[in-house]
Amino acid sequence: MRHLISPLDLSLDETNQLLDLASRIIDDPEAFAHKCEGKQLATLFFEPSTRTRLSFESAMLSLGGKVLGFSSASSSSASKGETVADTIRVVSSYVDIIAMRHPNDGAPVVAADHSAVPIINAGDGGHHHPTQTLTDLLTIRRLKGKLDHLTIGFCGDLKYGRTVHSLIKAMCRYEGTRFVLISPDELKVPDYVRDDLTATGYAFQEVKSLEDAMGQLDVLYMTRIQKERFADEAEYLRLKDSYILDGAKMALGKKDMIVLHPLPRVNEIATEVDDDPRAAYFQQVWFGKRVRMALILKLLGLESGFGPGEKPALPQPRHDLKCDNPRCISLAEPTLPQTFFPTEEPGVFRCKYCDHLHKL
Ligand code: CP
Repeated sequence: MRHLISPLDLSLDETNQLLDLASRIIDDPEAFAHKCEGKQLATLFFEPSTRTRLSFESAMLSLGGKVLGFSSASSSSASKGETVADTIRVVSSYVDIIAMRHPNDGAPVVAADHSAVPIINAGDGGHHHPTQTLTDLLTIRRLKGKLDHLTIGFCGDLKYGRTVHSLIKAMCRYEGTRFVLISPDELKVPDYVRDDLTATGYAFQEVKSLEDAMGQLDVLYMTRIQKERFADEAEYLRLKDSYILDGAKMALGKKDMIVLHPLPRVNEIATEVDDDPRAAYFQQVWFGKRVRMALILKLLGLESGFGPGEKPALPQPRHDLKCDNPRCISLAEPTLPQTFFPTEEPGVFRCKYCDHLHKL
């Protein structure tokens, strides 16, 4: 059984096979219309969503399967104090596959530890959003014709933007990627993402000016400032208008650049940009459903390609450290054992759930 918790749970070859399958689905959707007959998907959304939940549901229905689930924590027994582990033990006895979103970083790691069926991480706090990444990869591949040798600019909230963290991890595996990370100092990528970039040796710059960066970008990935993740509302108000992409800034970009955004947007892309042929964020939504159809088929073993997966031997964990990420599931559910694995850097440990680094 395979899960998709982080983008690197799929090998590069498996990722590319998945994108190929999504393209086959786009070319001939009828050929897949009955593939999931008799199968059920649960969508467990402890946090709001429009695209991810509905695209998963639409994907399963278009494959001939059925869906059930909930769209908020308040309508589930989480509101009575039920843990993620118990919820998953129960739901995985009803369905064949689960897509879940949770406000706490690392909650899907707990789910995968307790599930009898494949778990898909549909977004965990400010951590990862691997199916948005599959959507982004398919969009880039279809519109740019390749995934290697691209300069990609990430702009906005790179600290809390889970789609950014996941896409950076995924793009590190394509040759010749150059990253331009555009944000205010307060919203730079977390250390664990920067450390991954440094470790892979990929070229990256951290800059503040979108205007200065525009001319070099093949892909501009705009993001919303994630109001719901700020502990201090005053800081959100100070930073919320940091970047607004408008027609004047688009004029500084390459003619064949594409603009992506995971959506929802607030005001960081002016609506005047929607008519620019380089604005690809609504096409991106369309690709999202098709790549989720491909993922469901692969995880259910209804299309060949996913083997047992690599299970690297894990080093001895430490349980005597405490995660200092306030959104980590291990703090929200204190019965979970604190668990850290050593990194290659002496004295630096990585939380099993949320990846935050603990430096001794
Ligand atoms: N891109 C994305 O995750 O959108 P939703 O929050 O609407 O699911």
